[in-house]
Amino acid sequence: MTKRIDVNNLNVYYSNFLAVEDVSLAIEPKSVTAFIGPSGCGKSTFLRTLNRMHEVIPGARVEGEVLMDGVNLYEAGVDPVAVRRHVGMVFQRPNPFPTMSIAENVLAGVKLNNKRISRADADDLVESSLRGANLWEEVKDRLDKPGSSLSGGQQQRLCIARAIAIKPDILLMDEPCSALDPISTLAIEDLMQELKDEYTIVIVTHNMQQAARVSDRTAFFNIAGTGKPGKLIEMNDTATMFSTPSEKATEDYISGRFG
Ligand SMILES: Nc1ncnc2c1ncn2[C@@H]1O[C@H](COP(=O)(O)OP(=O)(O)O)[C@@H](O)[C@H]1O
Ligand SMILES: [Mg+2]
Repeated sequence: MTKRIDVNNLNVYYSNFLAVEDVSLAIEPKSVTAFIGPSGCGKSTFLRTLNRMHEVIPGARVEGEVLMDGVNLYEAGVDPVAVRRHVGMVFQRPNPFPTMSIAENVLAGVKLNNKRISRADADDLVESSLRGANLWEEVKDRLDKPGSSLSGGQQQRLCIARAIAIKPDILLMDEPCSALDPISTLAIEDLMQELKDEYTIVIVTHNMQQAARVSDRTAFFNIAGTGKPGKLIEMNDTATMFSTPSEKATEDYISGRFG
């Protein structure tokens, strides 16, 4: 059973600056949820609260709850490292470790988390993770070559392989295609469709066509002006959001009137 997330009344701060205000939403298991909205409205900030990556920035904190299967990730005693094992993350720019081989990159997260893994298990995990990321056929003959020798699209799939190697429940992706060409973007979008059979995926995208293509549900965030907090305006089935949004601001944004 893949875990579900319920966010209740979350405020997200950078020191005294309230960056995201009073967000409540649910993320359904085994589906793709897209976060859209204009630059600076807090999509990345909010995304990082879902695996406790926000707090790695000095002064950054949250108020409210992020429940994973009913357990508040911000409760005293919850280990952020354990949270990040359940909730993996893929970033905007592919960031393989440049000096590590392709295989070592896949195992990098596992080695941080686990004590020891046998050679045979490691080989199996490298293969299954690369297959899961649709990269195996392209790299199986050069697993010992540096991760940095791959193309941008391959590097991003390598980062996805690294993220799924730790067997998370949830995968957060912050604009994972924004540095990729259209062909690589399609490869990642296809991959998301396959991965949602097993994982819960949350993707931030500034590309509305992408949100419409890949997501089951869409959340629209907006900001009233510079220095104001970002807010969740509405969230719904993607088809409904793009055909008959409830809010005027959503309609303006998706029809390209601003943002
Ligand atoms: N490390 C940080 N320290 C202080 N403020 C930040 C930091 N990162 C982002 N912010 C601010 O938080 C707000 C939301 O930013 P961000 O989450 O990056 O928006 P988006 O991803 O929607 O473009 C912006 O006002 C941004 O300047
Ligand atoms: Mg962002």
